[in-house]
Amino acid sequence: MASIMYLIVIFILSSIYKESLSVRFKVSSTQSVVAALGSDVVLPCRLTPEMNAEKMEIRWFKPMYQPYVHLYINGKDDYSIQMPQFTNRTELIKENITRGVFPLRIRNVTAQDSGEYYCFVESSDHHGRTIVQLNVTAVGSLPVIFSKTYESNDTAICESYGWLPEASLIWTDNLGNQVIPSKEKVFKDENSCYCIMSIISLPNASNITCTVSNSVKQSQQSSKQILETGHPETCRDLYSRYVVFYPCLAVILLSCGCICLLLKRLRTKDEEIRSKDDVIRTKDDVIKQLRAAQCDSVNGISAAGISHYGWNSSDHVTYGNVPSVPLNGISSA
Ligand SMILES: *[C@@H]1O[C@H](CO)[C@@H](O)[C@H](O)[C@H]1NC(C)=O
Ligand SMILES: *[C@@H]1O[C@H](CO)[C@@H](O)[C@H](O)[C@H]1NC(C)=O
Ligand SMILES: *[C@@H]1O[C@H](CO)[C@@H](O)[C@H](O)[C@H]1NC(C)=O
Ligand SMILES: *[C@@H]1O[C@H](CO)[C@@H](O)[C@H](O)[C@H]1NC(C)=O
Ligand SMILES: *[C@@H]1O[C@H](CO)[C@@H](O)[C@H](O)[C@H]1NC(C)=O
Ligand SMILES: *[C@@H]1O[C@H](CO)[C@@H](O)[C@H](O)[C@H]1NC(C)=O
Ligand SMILES: *[C@@H]1O[C@H](CO)[C@@H](O)[C@H](O)[C@H]1NC(C)=O
Repeated sequence: MASIMYLIVIFILSSIYKESLSVRFKVSSTQSVVAALGSDVVLPCRLTPEMNAEKMEIRWFKPMYQPYVHLYINGKDDYSIQMPQFTNRTELIKENITRGVFPLRIRNVTAQDSGEYYCFVESSDHHGRTIVQLNVTAVGSLPVIFSKTYESNDTAICESYGWLPEASLIWTDNLGNQVIPSKEKVFKDENSCYCIMSIISLPNASNITCTVSNSVKQSQQSSKQILETGHPETCRDLYSRYVVFYPCLAVILLSCGCICLLLKRLRTKDEEIRSKDDVIRTKDDVIKQLRAAQCDSVNGISAAGISHYGWNSSDHVTYGNVPSVPLNGISSA
């Protein structure tokens, strides 16, 4: 009986001793980490109290346990059961692992990387885990405002793309009053970023502002002066400038070139006639005087030839200005 009591005491004592050897720890991190799209991010994970985690298993995973975001087992990294989206992008920083600090670095974060990450740590006789939220953000494009006739109403449209998280859009007039849109649309692009589009009925002559911002207070703003006609310059205006204005300019420049060529030709003919006259002059003094009279008349004809085309300098200027009258009409339309 005494020996049974003795064994029980031994058993209890030994289990107490074993319990004191099994070191309990707590796994901790920060609540959330914000990272810009395409940047590198470090997700913290540590043990308290401070202890060596070199011999422990460290598993980083998104809500589903397997495949892992990153696995550290038997003292080294194991990439055989890794989520394909993290291939070549994760690194367990082991510099301070002997003191229980082993953050995870994720390179070039994508929109899909957003979400909850679990840091699960297991020693031979204990385990623990913590959760860290990763929020990936992106500032979208500068909003573009343009006008359009939409279902026979004159409207102004504002568009911006590339936002993370989801963006919202506000229209304001030049007095700072909010303008309520008649239609608004938000959609995801191929990179899981958000695009936003908003339509208002075109206000009277004023300066309208479109502000787009996401929930982490990143924003972009554009303003547009509505002209007296009530239409801001649109892509179509730019289009007509390229399709109408520049070809017209090209035609004008081409005709100027032709005119110059013509003038040059006429001038060389004139000089030819003059040089022929000079040859004749050397022949005979008597004939020279007669020829001189003829020469004058020839010069008269060639001069008349030039003026017949109407290409003296003053005419040239007026001709060049003629097409610019309808042209101004086009470019300001
Ligand atoms: C991983 O990155 C290294 C260097 O950054 C590169 O040489 C290698 O091709 C990459 N592997 C994959 C599978 O992308
Ligand atoms: C490791 O710990 C030391 C001391 O606290 C610190 O200076 C160092 O930056 C840490 N290394 C990493 C990679 O965090
Ligand atoms: C980052 O990721 C994007 C899309 O996944 C890729 O197009 C880009 O080349 C990557 N950049 C670097 C520096 O790896
Ligand atoms: C991260 O995103 C979650 C869910 O979208 C949100 O509840 C949390 O406030 C965000 N954290 C930060 C720091 O923006
Ligand atoms: C166009 O304007 C009319 C009258 O103001 C309005 O009833 C109609 O809903 C508008 N249509 C659109 C598409 O905004
Ligand atoms: C625009 O001007 C007209 C008359 O000038 C007025 O009736 C209308 O309420 C104005 N609209 C806005 C949005 O200010
Ligand atoms: C239009 O309004 C915005 C914001 O109020 C201002 O920054 C901008 O200078 C204004 N533009 C013009 C042309 O008045």
